[in-house]
Amino acid sequence: MITFARLASAADLDDVLALDAMCFHRPWTRADYERELADASRCFIYLARHDGAAIGYCGFWRIFDEIHLNNFAVHPAWRRQGVGRALLTHVLAVADDIGAPNVTLEVRASNTAAIALYENAGFTPAGRRRDYYTHPVEDALILWRRRGPA
Ligand SMILES: CC(C)(COP(=O)(O)OP(=O)(O)OC[C@H]1O[C@@H](n2cnc3c(N)ncnc32)[C@H](O)[C@@H]1OP(=O)(O)O)[C@@H](O)C(=O)NCCC(=O)NCCS
Repeated sequence: MITFARLASAADLDDVLALDAMCFHRPWTRADYERELADASRCFIYLARHDGAAIGYCGFWRIFDEIHLNNFAVHPAWRRQGVGRALLTHVLAVADDIGAPNVTLEVRASNTAAIALYENAGFTPAGRRRDYYTHPVEDALILWRRRGPA
């Protein structure tokens, strides 16, 4: 069974760091995540687990009635099995519950898998940041899922 839970303490950061290292060329550092955890009213990290093993995570900031989704990844061995969709559904429900239903994120313009995942969840393109990413340099698409007053 897959469960979703908010990361409560730095003791669980090893799971996030391991997923980050598997999924991204330039993962965040432990210090980056410790700063996030220290700001609990703004920073949220959710882990998806299967039988205790971490298989996906999502980090976001709550800024007034908006969520800025910073990190989202599924363990490579668990992809294309609905984990990303289930994790995103959970995070969007959390966003609604905490009164921050408008959700935005940046995604590499070539990341067709993630773009399809987000568009299926109701995100629409709202702009492009030129050369936003490095290693390799690439534009970011800005996506929004708007629910509340603008
Ligand atoms: C993007 C990512 C999170 C998707 O997770 P996932 O668990 O494989 O996604 P799901 O199995 O839940 O798929 C949900 C939908 O996403 C889309 N999708 C997922 N992987 C896809 C792929 N390789 N190609 C095309 N569409 C894909 C599909 O629309 C899919 O729906 P479908 O299965 O009905 O076709 C995963 O590939 C990943 O971790 N990638 C590396 C990190 C990353 O790019 N994160 C996003 C940063 S913005």
